[in-house]
Amino acid sequence: MVFSEVSVSEILPVRQQVLRQGKPLEACMMESDELSTTQHFALKENQKVVAIATIMQQKNDLFSQEKQVRLRGMAVLPEYQKQQLGKKLLTQVENKFVKPHYDLMWFNAREKAVPFYRKLGFEIIGERFLIEGIGEHFVMYKSYE
Ligand SMILES: CC(C)(COP(=O)(O)OP(=O)(O)OC[C@H]1O[C@@H](n2cnc3c(N)ncnc32)[C@H](O)[C@@H]1OP(=O)(O)O)[C@@H](O)C(=O)NCCC(=O)NCCS
Repeated sequence: MVFSEVSVSEILPVRQQVLRQGKPLEACMMESDELSTTQHFALKENQKVVAIATIMQQKNDLFSQEKQVRLRGMAVLPEYQKQQLGKKLLTQVENKFVKPHYDLMWFNAREKAVPFYRKLGFEIIGERFLIEGIGEHFVMYKSYE
């Protein structure tokens, strides 16, 4: 498995397959995806993208830290899940691209993924909330101060 920063076009097919099933590729683009401050990452096996994550500069008023980054679009292809790849990808993103530059990372976690993030040291803040068409979520975060 090779970890690298990639272009948004490289991550979109996995985003579509895992997080936006049945939606056209264009519907898998997020606002801020193409900003210079946004970064996309992948784990590849023989050039094939199998796990993806994106970080973008976005402040959440729940937190006082100045340097905040938001994690988005974290996904592992179904046949590669539960093989430590999500952990491997997110840990490398944190160590190489988040900790050196930011004080806090936050995101909206799908309820089903909460145990995964907890294992990596992220905590829940606030109540569960519904994102229409996707499901129940919690805000999760980790401080690097
Ligand atoms: C959530 C997701 C990114 C996790 O990636 P993964 O590669 O399957 O997870 P890993 O194998 O790296 O898991 C790391 C640890 O978390 C645990 N874990 C992972 N998913 C879990 C789950 N749904 N429930 C409980 N524990 C889970 C693993 O058992 C493992 O524990 P261990 O270190 O004690 O062995 C992946 O399953 C996925 O893409 N799911 C569908 C899309 C999704 O929900 N994305 C998150 C959007 S917020």
